[in-house]
Amino acid sequence: MKLPYAESFKIKMVENIRKSTRQEREQWIKDARYNLFNLRSDQVFIDLLTDSGTGAMSDGQWSELMLGDESYAGASSYYKMKQAVKDICGFEYFLPTHQGRAAENVLFSTLVKQGDFIPGNSHFDTTKGHIEFRKATAIDCTIDEAFNTTLDHPFKGNIDLDKLEFVLQSNPKEHVPFIVVTITCNSSGGQPVSMENIKDVRALADKYGVKVLFDSARFAENAYFIKTREAAYQDKSIKEIVKEMFSFADMMTMSSKKDAIVNMGGFIGMRDHELFREASMYNILFEGFITYGGMSGRDMNALAKGLYEGTEFDYLESRIGQVAFLGEKLKNFGVPVLQPFGGHAIFIDAKKFLPNVPKEEYQAQTLAVELYIEGGVRGVEIGTLLADRDPLSRKNRYPALDLVRLTIPRRVYTNNHMEYTAVALANVYERRDRITKGMKIKWEAPLLRHFTVELERA
Ligand code: F0G
Repeated sequence: MKLPYAESFKIKMVENIRKSTRQEREQWIKDARYNLFNLRSDQVFIDLLTDSGTGAMSDGQWSELMLGDESYAGASSYYKMKQAVKDICGFEYFLPTHQGRAAENVLFSTLVKQGDFIPGNSHFDTTKGHIEFRKATAIDCTIDEAFNTTLDHPFKGNIDLDKLEFVLQSNPKEHVPFIVVTITCNSSGGQPVSMENIKDVRALADKYGVKVLFDSARFAENAYFIKTREAAYQDKSIKEIVKEMFSFADMMTMSSKKDAIVNMGGFIGMRDHELFREASMYNILFEGFITYGGMSGRDMNALAKGLYEGTEFDYLESRIGQVAFLGEKLKNFGVPVLQPFGGHAIFIDAKKFLPNVPKEEYQAQTLAVELYIEGGVRGVEIGTLLADRDPLSRKNRYPALDLVRLTIPRRVYTNNHMEYTAVALANVYERRDRITKGMKIKWEAPLLRHFTVELERA
C-alpha cells in the first residue's frame, strides 16, 4: 500500500480550547450582532476565520526569537531575513514591512498614480483597496473557469491572456505600472497559477514593456500545486519551483503571516536598485528604517526560518492534505463546495446551500452564523457583505459567488477538528430546508463594512 501523508511535525505545546453549549452560542452571536468578527476568541471552539497570522511556529522559529538583534540599524536579524529572501525567492533587494498590506502601501506609493490601470487575477481586497485609494483601477483578468464552482480545472488562478493583452493594448504603458499575479489566488478560492501561465504573462509583459508583481502570500502552496499538477515539475523540489516562479517577476510583496508561518510580518522583494531606493523613502515614512520596517529583530529571525520551513514538501503535503481532507468529508456529506479544493481553505457555495434564503438576506452570512450556532466553528463570509455597496447607487453589489470560507490555520488543528467541522456543517445541511430567513442590516460602515456590520435576524 502507498503510505498516506502524515504531519511533518509532532506537538510539543498545546493551547486548550473550550466547547460551549448551543444556548451560550445563540446568546453570544446575538450579542455580537450576528457578526462573527465581534465574537471573543474564547467563544469560538474551532477558529477558521483566517489562515493569516494564526499558524503555529516551530521550535526552531521560537528559538530564533531569542536570537533577535534589536539594533535600530543594520541588525543581524535584518541580514538573516535578507539572506532567506535571496535564497528562497531570489530577490537581491528587499524591504521588511509589518504585514502584506503595508508592503502594498509602500510599493504602490512608489509606482501607482491616478488614472493607472493594474491588470491581475482577482486582486485581493487590500491590493485593490491600495490601487483604488490612489484613484487607479484594478482590472480582473482571471480565466472564466474560475467562476464556475464545480468545474474541474487544475489552475483556476490563471490569468486569461486575451483579457490581459486587451488591457495592455488599450492603455499606454505609462499607465500600466505593473501586472499583479496573485499566487495562490485567494479571492478565487485559493486557486493556483500554473508555471506555464506565469511564463506567458511574463512574455506579454515583455512584449508591452510593463513590470510583473507577484502578490506572494501563499507562494509555497502555489509551488506545491505546480509540482503535483504540472507534469514537467513533478521531479523538481518545491524550492526549485519557487525559485523558477519568482524568476519571472520583477518584484514581489508578501504577507508573511501565511506561508512564512509567522504571526506578523511581510516584505517587498525587488531586483531594481533604483526602485529599492525610491521605495525605501516610503518605507521609512510609513514603516520604519529600512533594516526593520515595522518588524522587531526577533520577528525577522522567525520569518527567515519560516521561509525555509514553509517551502518543505512534506510540510506542504500535510498542510494542503488537511484542507483536502475537510473538503472530501464535506463533499461526501453532499455539501456544495468549491472545487478543486484550494490550498488554504474550503469554500462553501451558500447560494446552493441555502436556496430558500433570499439573496437580499445575505445567504453566506446566514450560513456562517448557523455553522457557529451548530458547532462553535467560526468561518468567514466572502460574499455580498464583503463586496460592499456600489459607491454611486449605494445599492448592494451581488457578487457571482456568495461563499463561506473555512480557512485552515497552519500546523494548528488536527484532522479530528476537521471531522468535527464537517459534521457540524452536515447537520446544518440536513436542516437547510427549514432555514428560510436570513439577516438584515441594522448598521453598516460606508466602506469595508463586513468587519463591523451589525445585523439582526430578518
Ligand atoms: N494578499 C493576499 C493574497 C492576501 O490573502 C492578504 C491577506 C494580503 C495580501 C494582505 O496581507 O493581511 O498581511 O496585510 N489575507 C488575509 C486573509 C487577511 O484572511 O485572507 P496582510
